[in-house]
Amino acid sequence: MLFDHIYDSWKPVQYEKYLQIEAYIPSRGFVLDVGTGNGYFQDFVRITKPELKIIGIDISSEMLKQNKNPDIIRAHGDFLPFRPVFDIITCFDVLHVIKGTDLKIVMKDNGLILVLQFVRFSEIETVKQIRDKLAGFKIEHVEILEGQEKSVFMIGRMI
Ligand SMILES: C[S@@+](CC[C@H](N)C(=O)[O-])C[C@H]1O[C@@H](n2cnc3c(N)ncnc32)[C@H](O)[C@@H]1O
Repeated sequence: MLFDHIYDSWKPVQYEKYLQIEAYIPSRGFVLDVGTGNGYFQDFVRITKPELKIIGIDISSEMLKQNKNPDIIRAHGDFLPFRPVFDIITCFDVLHVIKGTDLKIVMKDNGLILVLQFVRFSEIETVKQIRDKLAGFKIEHVEILEGQEKSVFMIGRMI
């Protein structure tokens, strides 16, 4: 897929976002990175939060081929093959292509979901789309990130 090759050059854009939200990422716990792609966030976490345990899933075998992390599984974001074992779920630039209905099923009580979503049209519309998909989570934080790619960052807690 052409997208796989384009995305390879996108690392600085994603890293800029991760650095902006780093203070909100817990230092401990078990993380599911939905739509992990070529593993930029997994790589980031291994350096900045070495005590986090992180598994990535992605639907694209092409993206996963480029992902050098050991803990990766090919799966659809709406058919997650896990029990409720995760303390933290990250959905970075992927929530727009999944329904999000399985996220609560694999999350532990009181767990956190961290969402980054690039803004295509308006921030208000993007926030609304994320809120709709996080129904059932208590929204604890909403922030607009300026940078190379404007994004919405939201944190929800499983209640
Ligand atoms: C824009 S990339 C974001 C990658 C990564 N989260 C990051 O921060 O760099 C979107 C990723 O979502 C994956 N994806 C698309 N649809 C998916 C689905 N239904 N289930 C799981 N992953 C999906 C794509 O293959 C791609 O790797």
